[in-house]
Amino acid sequence: MGETLLEVRGLSKRYDGFRALKKVDLSLQTGHVKGIMGPNGAGKSTLLRLLAGELEVTSGSVVFAGRAVRELSVDRTSNLGISYMPQRPSVFPALTVEENVRGAAQTSLILNRTEDEPSVKTLLDLVGLGKRARVRAVELPFGEKRLLDLAMALATKPRLLLADEPTAGVDRGSAETILGLLRDLSSPDSRGDFGLEGLIFTEHDREVLFEFPDEIGFLHAGELIVEDVPEQVKRHELVRNYLADQRNFEDFKGDGGKDA
Ligand SMILES: Nc1ncnc2c1ncn2[C@@H]1O[C@H](COP(=O)(O)OP(=O)(O)OP(=O)(O)O)[C@@H](O)[C@H]1O
Ligand SMILES: [Mg+2]
Repeated sequence: MGETLLEVRGLSKRYDGFRALKKVDLSLQTGHVKGIMGPNGAGKSTLLRLLAGELEVTSGSVVFAGRAVRELSVDRTSNLGISYMPQRPSVFPALTVEENVRGAAQTSLILNRTEDEPSVKTLLDLVGLGKRARVRAVELPFGEKRLLDLAMALATKPRLLLADEPTAGVDRGSAETILGLLRDLSSPDSRGDFGLEGLIFTEHDREVLFEFPDEIGFLHAGELIVEDVPEQVKRHELVRNYLADQRNFEDFKGDGGKDA
């Protein structure tokens, strides 16, 4: 504990002329969980995808486990032990559940990340899809697709997992499984096969956000407005406004909001 796993300085991203991420400084201590919140379009996915090597960085620097990462590419980041669970299911629909996971595990072998790749069965049992191994991914309900995404992200035995809205749109049962797993894997006593050294996830659900992570970052229009423990973040004026807007929107939709 007390060591820095990830240190991000001045990370920026431009899409053509549009500045989607503006000089973000962010750090994650080993063993910590960070939640990233913010309105639609704030830059949450952009931040995770930059860290995952999926997008070209416009400017900024990243140090992972004490090493400067010169080139953030998918090969490089998976090799370092950074894995990304995208916002939308990224499974190959025509392949079976186990073929999807095997493909992800083999990628990690090719990248020389792990010598002993986790068995497909272990991964599927971990996420509760053991009995669905032979089912084609296209046939899975959304929640199970997300569980499969998680199994695939874990197949590289990551040190740091970046999960982009892992429970959005997911049924309650699968959402509980996903959150339970993320919690277990990032807890210090879960240094088993898939124990994580760090987790960063994006989330809209404030119940999850204010309960689970050690720290929260609030992104707004590409800027990291505040990064602190949940109690402090909650008190920030822009965060309070954002949460009030969210509540109004839920009331407007007619579901009464989560706190009602
Ligand atoms: N490939 C792209 N080209 C141009 N603009 C993009 C591209 N990807 C994202 N953007 C824009 O960058 C901004 C940040 O997008 P991003 O997907 O990171 O937001 P987000 O916080 O993840 O939103 P959401 O909560 O809807 O997932 C948005 O204004 C989006 O329209
Ligand atoms: Mg997003």
